[in-house]
Amino acid sequence: MRSSTAAWWRDAVIYQLYVRSFQDTDGDGVGDLQGVISRLDYLRETLGVDAVWLTPFYRSPMFDSGYDVQDHTEVDPGYGELSTFDELVARAHDVGLKVLLDFVATNTSDQHAWFLESRSSRANAKREWYIWRDPKPDGSPPNNWLAMWGGPAWTLDPTTGQFFLHAFSPRIPDLNWHNPEVGQAMLDAAAFWLDRGVDGFRVDAVPMLLKDALLRDNPVSTSPSAGLHKPMGPYGAQQHVHDSGDPGIHAILRELRSLLDSYGEPERVMVGEVHATEWTDWATYYGSALDELHFPFNFGLMHVATNPTSVREVIKASSAAVPAGAWPNFVLGNHDEHRVASRAGAELTPVLMMLLLTLRGTPTIYYGDELGLPDVLIRPEDVRDPWELGVPGLGLGRDPQRSPMPWTGDPNGGFCPPHIRPWLPLIEHHSSRSVAAQLDRPGSMLSLTRRLLGLRRVREELRSGSQSPWAAPDTCVAYLREHAGQRSLIALNFSDHSARIRLPTPGRGHIIGSTNTEREGAKAKESIELAPYEGCLVELAGAGAVQPVPSSITAHTRGEDYPRSHWR
Ligand code: NOJ
Repeated sequence: MRSSTAAWWRDAVIYQLYVRSFQDTDGDGVGDLQGVISRLDYLRETLGVDAVWLTPFYRSPMFDSGYDVQDHTEVDPGYGELSTFDELVARAHDVGLKVLLDFVATNTSDQHAWFLESRSSRANAKREWYIWRDPKPDGSPPNNWLAMWGGPAWTLDPTTGQFFLHAFSPRIPDLNWHNPEVGQAMLDAAAFWLDRGVDGFRVDAVPMLLKDALLRDNPVSTSPSAGLHKPMGPYGAQQHVHDSGDPGIHAILRELRSLLDSYGEPERVMVGEVHATEWTDWATYYGSALDELHFPFNFGLMHVATNPTSVREVIKASSAAVPAGAWPNFVLGNHDEHRVASRAGAELTPVLMMLLLTLRGTPTIYYGDELGLPDVLIRPEDVRDPWELGVPGLGLGRDPQRSPMPWTGDPNGGFCPPHIRPWLPLIEHHSSRSVAAQLDRPGSMLSLTRRLLGLRRVREELRSGSQSPWAAPDTCVAYLREHAGQRSLIALNFSDHSARIRLPTPGRGHIIGSTNTEREGAKAKESIELAPYEGCLVELAGAGAVQPVPSSITAHTRGEDYPRSHWR
């Protein structure tokens, strides 16, 4: 089904809210739903985002911080009650915030009633809800698949003498989506939350939902980690062609989508976690009739953020892959990746926020990135993440990017009471990085993010306008956004040298946003000189025609021509 151009989610900025680390209100050192409620004003009024995606708060043993769901329709007692959730949705809607939930359907906790039943006997009615197979004659696992967090993807269960499949860890066995009863149960779970008023879902681990029905061996990878976005240890030694990306996934997504669509207006939205090797493959998750995900998350920038050439390539290639009528999106950070400030460095982080919030497409901000938080240092005794515990020492652990939100300079940053140990340590020097410290500092990352969100809200061209690359030195990324005669130039310098970019409409520029606040309000004449790691948003007065792309404007440091007006 085609989406209407007025769809709210196209204009929205999504905020990924890691519930466990946002705000503790019951004094156990862990964030909770009441904590989210207490910060709704921050999200809507102070920051100015339009939708929150809440990471899982369902009943869970918390082996994988809640992605190990034990009951899909219950709130974990550590997070609150169903009535707290209802209050959250009502209060969020009152202030104009949409609420998206994580839909975790690839696997469940091994403590889920479905799995406990399934493993109890070969004859159990839920046996086929998970993937069970006999050992090979020599006693080895049914095929060569590996678990992402270490070891084989199969574990032998002594009760019935069969192996069960788990793409990540034996503590989170994979559901068998070849069994229609599983699909129905998960649709019922989705309907449960839709009936309670949620505005949509972020679908977890989409390409892993369904596996090859024949369970064929994965081929060995000739270049380990090829196609993976980061080196992943032994897991990277295989091509994951049979344990992920099964074509049958599209039918699953279509069913889910039609459930969402059946709720009518305002549109319920479905976005999804899709890591794919090729953009063409990634784009298939929109659905051939745009009847699957409203968009698969575009993680491209996350892996290239420091390199302007690669950034241009990602924008160009991903935009070209988005099917006609579909809508792009961009992501810079999430709970599975190291913080952008640690990947790109503190100097470049504001520039990247400007990139994220001025590109054409729905942006998703990871909580704390508006403060420019870097990764927190995790001592070995503080490790919680099963990935780090399973494959230690490779830098795959995800605790560093999940530290509690620092609200104030109090001990524990106002996240939890001062005498309580938070579930993960707070960031070093949290006081100066806190919301309270940054709010009144015009040059802070928080102030910049707020200003950019404000500009995006009032300037149609930043939300829905066209986007075209603008000529810039190699060390920069520049583009024009335009809508109904309103035009802005975004000029971003990724280097530690200054750079000059010519304006399309000489004499008509006006800097309305900059990573250097002092420049805001200034006029820009023929060209704009960007200081090292500076980003500027220049309003271009209406009527003037865009001048042809110059052939001889030089970067101060390189002195070379850059006659180009296309992404490269
Ligand atoms: C994908 C989620 O993003 C990740 O955080 C989680 O650990 C895995 N799914 C396993 O459930």
